Amino acid sequence: MAVILTHRPDALQRRPGDGTDQLSGRSQGKLCTLQEPGVGEIRGTLPAVNVTGAVDLSVDIGALRLRNPVLVASGTFGYGIEFSHFGDLNRLGGIVVKGLSREPMEGAPAPRICETPSGMLNAIGLQNIGARAFVAEKLPLLRPYQTAIIANVFGYTVEDYAEVIRILEDAEGLAAYELNISCPNTNKGGVQFGNDPTLVAEVVAAARKAAIRRPLWVKLSPLVADIGIIARAAEESGAAALTVANTYPAMSVDIHTRRSKLGNATGGLSGPAIRPITLRLVREAAKSVKIPVIGLGGIEIPDDVLEYLVVGAAAVQVGTASFSDPTASWRILDGLEELAKRNNYCDVNNIRGSFLENSA
Ligand SMILES: Cc1cc2nc3c(=O)[nH]c(=O)nc-3n(C[C@H](O)[C@H](O)[C@H](O)COP(=O)(O)O)c2cc1C
Repeated sequence: MAVILTHRPDALQRRPGDGTDQLSGRSQGKLCTLQEPGVGEIRGTLPAVNVTGAVDLSVDIGALRLRNPVLVASGTFGYGIEFSHFGDLNRLGGIVVKGLSREPMEGAPAPRICETPSGMLNAIGLQNIGARAFVAEKLPLLRPYQTAIIANVFGYTVEDYAEVIRILEDAEGLAAYELNISCPNTNKGGVQFGNDPTLVAEVVAAARKAAIRRPLWVKLSPLVADIGIIARAAEESGAAALTVANTYPAMSVDIHTRRSKLGNATGGLSGPAIRPITLRLVREAAKSVKIPVIGLGGIEIPDDVLEYLVVGAAAVQVGTASFSDPTASWRILDGLEELAKRNNYCDVNNIRGSFLENSA
């Protein structure tokens, strides 16, 4: 039987001296101060309130300040508002909403998800209500929350991407755009945008031109030969941050029917099974660019967040974990705060990129 999405409360039992306390030697002994972040606001307009004794979990993603580094991932948290009865949305570092297209999309045939060892496959087919309906129906409900709302954007042509952003530009209440470039480009015979640095540069530049009011994050496909080349193409074309990474193309077969366990032949693999693979990609991407990298893939517990930060991520997103436990992002956040306090990480930013090469 597959082991899926287990909570690992033991991870919260770690103590100084067991190795985790060495993660941020730079902050040891430093007086902890909390600078109250202006959530979803651009740096420079922030109130500078210091509260001695607290852990500073705020992170800057380019010009955008987030309350903490724990965001929720696109497609795994609805349009955000559906999760408001599971916890306080204000506490989250940010909410990346379900991918939005020009027009509403019905998505793929059922079944759309199936369990795999330590993970799951999905073939949702990018079902969504469309950018206009999102602005009219969902955004007004999200606006009262003091957390960064990020619109995940996709399309099948460069013009699709730009048009979705143009629709969103007129709306209030968004902090940034996240471009999902793991989509087939119908103008180029179905080749994925995210695999080809020239196409990446083209779609990011067009989206950047349309995104006048807000920063543009680019979410990379993990299925690339050299993520550094793709990361640099996105950075040079105007990305303010990179999200690494999306799901891995994969499949699962019912041996009795000899058909796919999904309505589509193939789907995207997510969950703990992918974490070590994506972790390497995050490290590679972070080494290749100057802009912040946001890591996601299989995060279940606070230690997983630290793993991503250590290899260079500035923040993380929680995805599949919310399926087995809709409160996962709050649980991870609580645990991260506790870990940080216990290990005297006064500023979570000090952990970023603190990876140490093994000595020969
Ligand atoms: C059911 C489902 C739907 C998803 N929909 C989107 C989407 O609309 N846009 C997007 O960029 N990523 C989408 N993703 C990918 C996730 O945001 C995330 O990149 C991926 O699942 C890896 O993280 P995880 O292992 O923590 O789930 C989806 C993932 C799942 C499981």
